[in-house]
Amino acid sequence: MAIPPEINVGLLGLGVVGGGVATGLLQDGAVSRQVGHPVTLKKVLVRDPGKPRDTKLGPELVTTEPQEVLSDPDVHVVAELIGGVQPTLGFLKQALSSGKHVVTANKEVMAKHGLELLTLARQNRVSLLFEASVGGGIPIVSCLSNQLAANEVRSIRSIINGTTNYILTQMAYQSTPFPDALRQAQELGYAEADPTNDIEGFDAAYKIGILASMAFRRPVSPEEVYRQGISGLEPQDFLYAQELGYAIKPLAIAGLEDGGVCARVYPALVPFGQVLAKVDGAYNAVEVEGSLCGKILFHGMGAGREPTTSAVIGNLIEIGRSMVSPSGIGSSGGLDTLVDAEAGKQPWATPGIRPIDGLMSSYYLRLNVADQPGVLALIAQILGQGQISIASVLQKGADQSAQTAELVIITHPSREDSVRKSILKIADLTVVKRVNNLLRIEV
Ligand code: NAP
Ligand code: HSE
Repeated sequence: MAIPPEINVGLLGLGVVGGGVATGLLQDGAVSRQVGHPVTLKKVLVRDPGKPRDTKLGPELVTTEPQEVLSDPDVHVVAELIGGVQPTLGFLKQALSSGKHVVTANKEVMAKHGLELLTLARQNRVSLLFEASVGGGIPIVSCLSNQLAANEVRSIRSIINGTTNYILTQMAYQSTPFPDALRQAQELGYAEADPTNDIEGFDAAYKIGILASMAFRRPVSPEEVYRQGISGLEPQDFLYAQELGYAIKPLAIAGLEDGGVCARVYPALVPFGQVLAKVDGAYNAVEVEGSLCGKILFHGMGAGREPTTSAVIGNLIEIGRSMVSPSGIGSSGGLDTLVDAEAGKQPWATPGIRPIDGLMSSYYLRLNVADQPGVLALIAQILGQGQISIASVLQKGADQSAQTAELVIITHPSREDSVRKSILKIADLTVVKRVNNLLRIEV
């Protein structure tokens, strides 16, 4: 393709991220200087042109008609910053099919349709880059696909949802009630349009699915990621966890278990001594263990306008450079491995998926029980029958009028399926009033 006199960018979306990217593209030619060629913001698609915005654009730049971006032959690169699958999937397919390079921050569409879109990008010899879809400003996507490509990845342990990490940090250290902490995260621009995606772990499941697909060179769909949200956590869990020497963190993990990929998202107790326990607020961290590099930790702001803008504009610059480079071939971000994997073209065996049932973990169990002799023995008997060994027990918060107390039990490493079966039996005991929480302990 001949190098156009100007590289024209069309934006889909002008919200938290789109506003930052538009501002960056309009700023004093910094992007053009990085590319070594003029880069221009050509058009911006919004839903509601009358909405008050902190990003001021001339009216000639703004449209509510998607085809003014997607069908304009002078738009060379499309940045999709809307989110979700509808209508974005259609927009992305149209852009790629018509030979436009694409950058997206949309983890949901990449997690659910990434392979299809990457294949389309390859067929049309254009780039599809999505650094901002995982980890905000942390360059984990390109590192996994390029700089760490020599490694066989053994595990990824991460905090990759800024909203839930912010909420849990506020609950743990400021005793902020859950709804207030969520509202703050929304005001700071961290939360998804529907914050259920953050709270119930969907967002983190999309992201760990993307990372696991790249790391283990096999597609890992969101349905293949075990998911538990943070809405079941109560203030007592933070108090008891702290007393026991743990922080509660929203983890997303993918690792090889028995030769298969086990990917999971849940809030877990992390010992205070571990680095992940110290990742607070909207910060994200991704620990990758590779066969050659050992353990590497990436840490940085995982949500919000500026960090995400950094990732999107970085991808735009990468594409711009590839357009003006002598080879003229767009970058694939090293993600061709995924397309090859699906086509059965890779020389190594593709690992299967392992459900969480076989996971070995220690557990934190909080129960509300009748405050009477013999209760602990009944519970211990059920755990023992399930080969679950108790590491410690705390009795807390006796309610004299109700004659109940709270029991906190920490187990030694045990099998997930056995723990679940035992909890069902424990919940059936008449002396057990409520199973308040069951959390894993990540050591
Ligand atoms: P946002 O603030 O809600 O902005 C979404 C933008 O898309 C708005 O400008 C909206 O238009 C536009 N839009 C929505 N539906 C549309 C439609 N049907 N047609 C045309 N325009 C439409 O979202 P955001 O926080 O910027 O997130 C955008 C993407 O970045 C998402 O995929 C998100 O997951 C991802 N992301 C966000 C962050 C973050 O920290 N916020 C970080 C990393 C990745 P109006 O303004 O007219 O309503
Ligand atoms: N809602 C997401 C989060 C935005 O809180 O991490 C960044 O992807």
